[in-house]
Amino acid sequence: MMNDKDLRQQAYQAVEKSLETAQEDTYRQGFHMTPPVGLLNDPNGWIQWRGKYHMYFQWMPFHTGHGAKLWGHYSSDNLVEWKLEPIALTPSDWFDKNGCYSGSAIDHNEKLKVFYTGNVRNGKGDRETYQCLAESDNGIDFVKKGVRVELPEGYTAHFRDPKVWNYDDKWYMVVGAQTLDKEGTVAFFESEDLQEWTHKGNLAGPVNGLGYMWECPDTFQLDQQDVLIFSPQGVKAQGIDFNNQYQTGYVIGKIDYENGKMEHGSFTELDRGFEFYAPQSMVDEKGRRLLVGWMGVPDQGEEHHPTIKHHWIHNLTLPRELRLEQGKLYQLPVEEMKQLRLKQLFEHEVEAEFSQSIARTSELVIETGDSLDHLELKLFDFLTLSYSKADGYVTLERPNLASGEPESRSCRLIEGIKYVQVFIDRSSVEIFINKGKEVFTTRMFADPEERLLKVKQKGNEQLKLTAWELKD
Ligand code: FRU
Repeated sequence: MMNDKDLRQQAYQAVEKSLETAQEDTYRQGFHMTPPVGLLNDPNGWIQWRGKYHMYFQWMPFHTGHGAKLWGHYSSDNLVEWKLEPIALTPSDWFDKNGCYSGSAIDHNEKLKVFYTGNVRNGKGDRETYQCLAESDNGIDFVKKGVRVELPEGYTAHFRDPKVWNYDDKWYMVVGAQTLDKEGTVAFFESEDLQEWTHKGNLAGPVNGLGYMWECPDTFQLDQQDVLIFSPQGVKAQGIDFNNQYQTGYVIGKIDYENGKMEHGSFTELDRGFEFYAPQSMVDEKGRRLLVGWMGVPDQGEEHHPTIKHHWIHNLTLPRELRLEQGKLYQLPVEEMKQLRLKQLFEHEVEAEFSQSIARTSELVIETGDSLDHLELKLFDFLTLSYSKADGYVTLERPNLASGEPESRSCRLIEGIKYVQVFIDRSSVEIFINKGKEVFTTRMFADPEERLLKVKQKGNEQLKLTAWELKD
């Protein structure tokens, strides 16, 4: 085990050594949070505190694989420009020596407090897990307070990712877990003082067919309904659903805080694209429920990302505002994203076909009439989004990162396609359909020189296409 000072020093040396290589990458993102070097995965400790937005993240600075994670840190005043801050947590103690794993932040008694998982491999190579507390007076420097929750009976050591919130003057915590029968579930705890925690059972799960481990639970209230987002592993693909290696989705219902149980409906995928996982949400000072996810999926072709040659991999998604409409979670890019617009490139009525070069960091908006029969959007000769009224399918296709063979993800829209907003960064797209009803989040490793956008449509109405170049 290395001490905090040495770990920090080595991490900063790793950054110094590879930063230029990472920044020279033509796939380096323009306006998404990326690791300076190394690997980034889950968003952590997402909070607006004393006016500032803080996003901590799972970070492996020493190489582009997983391992004993640190907490990296970005901050922002406006959700658009992000500043890389000093490392928040290092795996330097007996209770977190193999990784300061994912966790969440709260504001309490003038302090920013984070609960996170201390991942430990003991002498026999077995996993141990501790839910730990660390506190900060300024959001930058943290003092570890040690273990607050030990593994309760009834679970394997796959027990991690505490999310803490306040309700009716008490504190609650959910932890992603696995039962002894190897089924995914969410453990539920209650506390009066954030020190002593009582295990109240499983808030939700296991659910037949919903996998062997639920990671990164996130519980909140929206429009008087309770929502639980989590990332189950081991769910089998069913037609157009659950096609990624691991899933992320949500259930809606009602939490019975007394008995520690949530009655809920069925599990719905949150994002329809190739890369989306382990999102975290919080309420900001404007009262919005904002969500950010990891634009990656564990064990899903990470070794084939071309950015590895440049000593970095992965990024976070744009912040999205969540809304609940008729039992469905909508995700909208936050309105602050408009500040990214550098200049309008064009506004065009597309009658049948249109092609035009655009910037590699751009935003597109497509507005259509109701009677559109067919839509096709082709980006940089790499990604194709298509919609057909005949069956209501929206499909996103790209070449598989390993084989180059086409692969696709789909969803169904019975009401037709009316509004499409696309954020293009150098190596990703986020496609928001019908004002956030469906979202496709995907990495895009097109030829960096490619600039061509092609749009085709069939139907009676005209289609308005607007494009902006975005700042990066
Ligand atoms: C999800 C996850 C979490 C864990 C973290 C480790 O991607 O596996 O369950 O805390 O990543 O980096």
